[in-house]
Amino acid sequence: METNSRSLRTILFTHLGLGIILWVLLDAIACYFTALYFTNLVYDKWLLDSTSSLVKAVHVGNNTIQFDLQREAIDMFRFDENDKTYFKISSKRRGYIAGDSGLIDSAYTNEEPQLTYSYFSGSKIRQATIHQNFQNIDDTAIVTVAETLIKRAKLTDEILIAMIAPQLALLIGALFISWLSIAKGIKPLTDLASAIESLDQHNLSPVSLDGLPHELRILSTRINDLLQKIRNTLESQKHFISDAAHQLRTPLAAILLHAEQAEMAQSSIEQASSLKSLHNSVKRAARLSQQLLSLAKSEHNSAALEEFSLFNLSSLARQTAEDWIHLALDRGIDFGLNVTDQNVLIYGNERLIGEMLSNLIDNALQYVGLNGTVTVKVQYVNDLPCLSVEDNGPGIPHSERDRIFERFYRIPGTHHDGCGLGLAIVEEIATVHDARIFVSSGLNGNGSIFSIYFKRPSVNNSGAYQ
Ligand SMILES: Nc1ncnc2c1ncn2[C@@H]1O[C@H](COP(=O)(O)OP(=O)(O)OP(=O)(O)O)[C@@H](O)[C@H]1O
Ligand SMILES: [Mg+2]
Repeated sequence: METNSRSLRTILFTHLGLGIILWVLLDAIACYFTALYFTNLVYDKWLLDSTSSLVKAVHVGNNTIQFDLQREAIDMFRFDENDKTYFKISSKRRGYIAGDSGLIDSAYTNEEPQLTYSYFSGSKIRQATIHQNFQNIDDTAIVTVAETLIKRAKLTDEILIAMIAPQLALLIGALFISWLSIAKGIKPLTDLASAIESLDQHNLSPVSLDGLPHELRILSTRINDLLQKIRNTLESQKHFISDAAHQLRTPLAAILLHAEQAEMAQSSIEQASSLKSLHNSVKRAARLSQQLLSLAKSEHNSAALEEFSLFNLSSLARQTAEDWIHLALDRGIDFGLNVTDQNVLIYGNERLIGEMLSNLIDNALQYVGLNGTVTVKVQYVNDLPCLSVEDNGPGIPHSERDRIFERFYRIPGTHHDGCGLGLAIVEEIATVHDARIFVSSGLNGNGSIFSIYFKRPSVNNSGAYQ
């Protein structure tokens, strides 16, 4: 596991935190422009009022536009604690009349008051212009009042500073609440992670579903199912190992005993008998270890699947049956092969299927008894490839038909040598091939028939057999 990986809480908090910070920043910018807008609105109204008051000092005298305002009044007008105030009176016909001649009149000529930004003496200014029409002399007075922007900027800054503290408090509060909410929200997940972390081969107890949200409930149920499977597998492995050890102990103890008897034999006849028993025990131990190995190799694993290929079941049955002819002849058994002429193709592990058939033939030859009949068949049954081994021996009682596939199980009263693993191997191999096994009785209810139904090979989307 990557130890320096970031926690889910940190990842969520980073994303949410960045989102909140961005949001508060945007909010601050929006607030700044709102403050600016309303500041301008207030000061623009004052500016227009000042301009209107100057318009009142403009009148007609001697057929020309005149501007009459005492010097003191003008000084009063210009007085401002923060900003510089400028004004200019001019007439359309005569041009400049009074005030700051450098002010540029607004280009608009309609009679509505105008508010514009401009520059004067190197500073940015806000200026208001009013056109006053005097029809009797056919002239227009242009009255412009302007001011620098210091108090506007000051007020905007003050509003902004007043806003920063609550915005910061909002930000810290939102981040804190997010951190707590994330911690609370992912608590079931962190609890589940620690419950899973505490699992090991000695503790595979199911994780608790109490208080888990829906999604984690699904995950935990799945984990619990897997844990149950692991527990079952470990349990059956434990049984298997103890059974195997127990089964091996019997022939090994017998080997020891017969070897000692052979050593201490008083006569050559006694010694020969002990050596014969020793040989039988060694054979039994060898058979058991061979069956154990076969079982291990048959288990569902990737190695078994890697050896899958398309092959003809009929040819495999012929080759495998040949290996057993001599034994069948020795025992006087009528051993027959009934294989269809057509190719019976299946997709599987040829070696394992050969092993499966060998175990079935081995059982049939073993349990059919002297002068019995054993037949190996390969045919299509209901369009499915079917391999069967039939004998006319004692048969298998209905009550035993499931149990005979258990590991080390032998029907009580079975006297022939064996370790009870042959059919467990057959079942493992059938599982690997997704094949189904049926046990039935032969004609007139005599003997037994073991039939294995395989799937017909098919081609998947990528053109491979399955
Ligand atoms: N064809 C059969 N006829 C009658 N009984 C059978 C037949 N095949 C299997 N059995 C019974 O089923 C039991 C289990 O068979 P299985 O092949 O698993 O083990 P085994 O033959 O005893 O030992 P081994 O592992 O050496 O094959 C046998 O002990 C026997 O009692
Ligand atoms: Mg057997």
